[in-house]
Amino acid sequence: MEINALHKANNVLYLTTVQSQFSNMYIAVREKEQRLFTDEEISNLPYTSIQNVHAKEWKLRQKSTTRFTYYLETKQQPQIILDIGCGNGWFSKEMALVSKKNHIIGLDVNTEELEQASRIFKYSNLQFVYGNIFEIDSFSKQFDIITLNGSVQYFPDFKELFQTLQSFLKPKGEIHIIDSPFYASHKIIEAGNRTLDYYTTLGFPEMAANYHHHEIKYVSNFDVLYKYQRSIINKLLGKKDSPFSWFRYTK
Ligand SMILES: C[S@@+](CC[C@H](N)C(=O)[O-])C[C@H]1O[C@@H](n2cnc3c(N)ncnc32)[C@H](O)[C@@H]1O
Repeated sequence: MEINALHKANNVLYLTTVQSQFSNMYIAVREKEQRLFTDEEISNLPYTSIQNVHAKEWKLRQKSTTRFTYYLETKQQPQIILDIGCGNGWFSKEMALVSKKNHIIGLDVNTEELEQASRIFKYSNLQFVYGNIFEIDSFSKQFDIITLNGSVQYFPDFKELFQTLQSFLKPKGEIHIIDSPFYASHKIIEAGNRTLDYYTTLGFPEMAANYHHHEIKYVSNFDVLYKYQRSIINKLLGKKDSPFSWFRYTK
């Protein structure tokens, strides 16, 4: 597919003008959370050393990733894939490795991690782009698959997001939401308070305004390809898995 870019810098295509306010705060938060990694650490994700403070979380993410890449392997035709909120690009890279015939576009609005991603992952079927999805016309009906891996919570309005993503899909195209929280309606306020407490303790209370809690009812028309089930037996057996369900919408 042809992508209309305003400019290219450090191998990242800039599709819309840069807004750095969110990006700067997001990176400062990630640094405090010890979630900014070296190039070498990123090149190994979702695998980390046991010293990594988030090693346990990454172990669970390895399971979600493997589930998804197995799924992608079952596709007979080459897939054009948009990975929204790709961050440092590790998940886009995992998809690019499934088949050279697939083409992956990793999109984000945080320039620092995008430029790091494009420095680390150099594959002919993988391109990193900066862009506000609500301002990109050229994505209309372009994609077989759109993934949101841990990024849906940064979009304030799920219905607006869904409508836009649906317009980006080819007929029978799919939206996949992985490793992302959804909440029962009566839990939304409580979750919002928890998020505010968390970011306040971290020293960035203003970040809470960028983290949104979506109701589970918004994905009621999605298939559930993996369902998180709290199980004492699995816990006792040490069989831990992602606490987030995997949702698929098919156009
Ligand atoms: C928690 S990270 C997830 C990164 C990666 N997908 C992963 O699974 O590790 C969320 C990402 O969403 C990005 N993001 C937030 N708002 C966005 C927006 N409006 N458009 C695109 N990306 C956005 C952030 O910059 C960040 O890189």
